[in-house]
Amino acid sequence: MNSQPSRHVLVTGANRGIGLEFTRQLLARGDRVVATAREPGRATALNTLAGEYPGHLHVLPLDITQPRAHAELLRELPLVLEDAYIDLLINNAGVLHSGERFGALDLDNLEHSFRTNAAGPYLLTQALAPQLADGARVVNMSSRIGAIGLTTRFGTPSYAISKAALNMATVLLAQALSVRDIVVVAVSPGWVRTDMGGEQAEVAPEDAVAGLLARVDDLSMADSGSFFDWQGEPIPW
Ligand SMILES: NC(=O)c1ccc[n+]([C@@H]2O[C@H](COP(=O)([O-])OP(=O)(O)OC[C@H]3O[C@@H](n4cnc5c(N)ncnc54)[C@H](OP(=O)(O)O)[C@@H]3O)[C@@H](O)[C@H]2O)c1
Repeated sequence: MNSQPSRHVLVTGANRGIGLEFTRQLLARGDRVVATAREPGRATALNTLAGEYPGHLHVLPLDITQPRAHAELLRELPLVLEDAYIDLLINNAGVLHSGERFGALDLDNLEHSFRTNAAGPYLLTQALAPQLADGARVVNMSSRIGAIGLTTRFGTPSYAISKAALNMATVLLAQALSVRDIVVVAVSPGWVRTDMGGEQAEVAPEDAVAGLLARVDDLSMADSGSFFDWQGEPIPW
C-alpha cells in the first residue's frame, strides 16, 4: 500500500515502452496522470487504461519537437486538471537512431535526436514551469550512453550527443528552478526491454519504473541536478 498522497503527473511519450509503464504504475497507486502521445487516437493501450481509471487519466497530444505543441498542451492542462498544477513531470519521450557509423553520420539524425532528446525536454519544462507546483519534481529520462565519463567506444553518436546535452539541460534547469524548491534530475532506466531496448535487454520495464519511482519519491533538494540509475546508483556525468 503506497502512503504517498495522490499527485498530478505528466508523462511524455506514454503510448508505449517505459512511458506506458510509468502511466500504469502511477495510476495503480492513485495518482492523476496526463499522458501524452503523438497520436492519441492510435494510443490503444493508453485509451484502454483511461477506461479503467475514469477521471484519473487524460491522454493529450504532444510532439516534443514542436514548441507550438508545448504551448497547446499548456492551454489544455486546466481543462483536465482541477488546479492545473503538476507535481511530477516525466520527460520520457526519446528517440534512438540505430545503425550509425563513423564517417557516415548525417546532420538529419543529429538534429532530430537533439530536438527530441534534449531541446524538447528543456523547452517543455520551460513552457510548463508556471504550471509546476512549488516543490515539484522533474525527471529527465537520460541514459548511461549520454555519460561522457563512461564512454569507451564509438556507438549511437546522435543518441549519445543528445543525451549528454539533456544532462546539461538537467543541471541548468535544476539551477533555474531551485528558487521554487523544484528538484530536477537525470535518470537512466537501465537497458530495458522495449521497442528501443530490444528483446535481449536486461531489465523489465516494470522493474525499471518501480525502481525509478521509489527513488523519485525520496528526492530532496540536495539531489537536484544529479544523475542516477533505476537502482538509485549515481552515474558519473
Ligand atoms: N529502453 C532502454 O533500454 C533505454 C535505456 C536508456 C534510456 N532510455 C530512455 O527512456 C525513454 C523511453 O524509452 P523506451 O525504451 O520506452 O523507448 P520506445 O519504446 O522507443 O518509446 C519511445 C517513446 O517516445 C515517443 N516519442 C518519440 N519521438 C517523439 C516525439 N518527437 N514527440 C513525442 N513523443 C515521441 C514514442 O512515441 P511514438 O510511439 O509516437 O513513436 C514512444 O512513446 C527514452 O527517452 C529513452 O531514450 C531507454
